[in-house]
Amino acid sequence: MSEESQRTEQTERREPILEVRDLVKHFPLTQGVLFKRQVGAVKAVDGISFDLYPGETLGIVGESGCGKSTVAKLLMNLEAPTSGTIRYKGEDITKLSGRALKAVRRNIQMVFQDPYTSLNPRMTVGDIIGEPFDIHPEVAPKGDRRRKVQELLDVVGLNPEYVNRYPHQFSGGQRQRIGIARGLALRPEIIVADEPVSALDVSVQAQVVNLMERLQDEFGLSYMFIAHDLSIVRHISDRVGVMYLGKMAEIGSDEEIYEHPTHPYTQALLSAVPVPDPEAEGRRERIVLEGDVPSPANPPSGCRFRTRCWKAEARCAEEVPLLAIPTPFEKAESGVAHPSACHFAEERAAVVAA
Ligand SMILES: Nc1ncnc2c1ncn2[C@@H]1O[C@H](COP(=O)(O)OP(=O)(O)OP(=O)(O)O)[C@@H](O)[C@H]1O
Ligand code: SF4
Ligand SMILES: [Mg+2]
Repeated sequence: MSEESQRTEQTERREPILEVRDLVKHFPLTQGVLFKRQVGAVKAVDGISFDLYPGETLGIVGESGCGKSTVAKLLMNLEAPTSGTIRYKGEDITKLSGRALKAVRRNIQMVFQDPYTSLNPRMTVGDIIGEPFDIHPEVAPKGDRRRKVQELLDVVGLNPEYVNRYPHQFSGGQRQRIGIARGLALRPEIIVADEPVSALDVSVQAQVVNLMERLQDEFGLSYMFIAHDLSIVRHISDRVGVMYLGKMAEIGSDEEIYEHPTHPYTQALLSAVPVPDPEAEGRRERIVLEGDVPSPANPPSGCRFRTRCWKAEARCAEEVPLLAIPTPFEKAESGVAHPSACHFAEERAAVVAA
């Protein structure tokens, strides 16, 4: 058994730290100024289920507007779901309030996409990183805060002497390190990172990803790592979920998604990932996605991907494909049998091995 599949088996035997089931978030569309009436809904997240295991990184990938940030906000309790459950260690956190909610929120922290706008320009780095201690003073008593903040700066590779500086005195990569330090302040178990490197230069992206991997080992963190590009999450993810228009198209281990994708959308996304070896690049097939993503206020019937799918047939307009292991692959060897929401799922090597 390969090291990778051994690791996947180990992951699967453990209890998940987060269990998300049939999660739905519809934003009402209203008309009228004084007498608002609902004329529809933006189906930002429309029935998503997945698990997050202790110590793993689950990558979530999909085009702009497919609902990734909404999932992140639901997990953080920054938005209330329309329906569905989010269980943290077995307890549904969508029903919690007051002290119980506060205790759970301490364990689930977020790192935001844009390090330029997510840090208050008028606060010192020390105040930004120490802000979570205002809500949870039990983690760092007043007299101990400066030391704790300096420790955090050191942990993320910044000079602890920078504690009195302001965000504009730092580069984009350094600011994201500050955002990560703030996310770590309360020693959470889970970090939801919403496109943490998308706003950074390519040369800096790898440094921040490497830092996050080191911190994961050091603090035993579970990550949900959101990106719009499959190439960014490959290095860091143990498993990857591919979202399309508020739904999960395919989910599986790193090997299952990158080596044995069965959903046409994943295959198209993978075919757009550049391959460093020019010879392999020349040999591979490119699947061009035509048209734009339809509006989540008015998604296509049946399979939401059908308006852009080259394999679509009449059945795709009528029947919603469920996210499940496709019947032909139920008994397939490891790597192939994984959930894919397609009536006509089939393996297709979208990336030619170098
Ligand atoms: N508060 C809101 N009210 C109404 N619609 C919203 C709200 N927040 C998000 N949406 C809509 O929900 C859909 C999903 O948005 P979301 O931000 O979750 O997508 P995303 O996958 O994170 O996109 P991006 O890659 O651009 O960050 C979009 O159509 C968006 O316009
Ligand atoms: S169900 Fe049909 S439209 Fe949807 S991905 Fe599969 S083949 Fe394409
Ligand atoms: Mg987003």
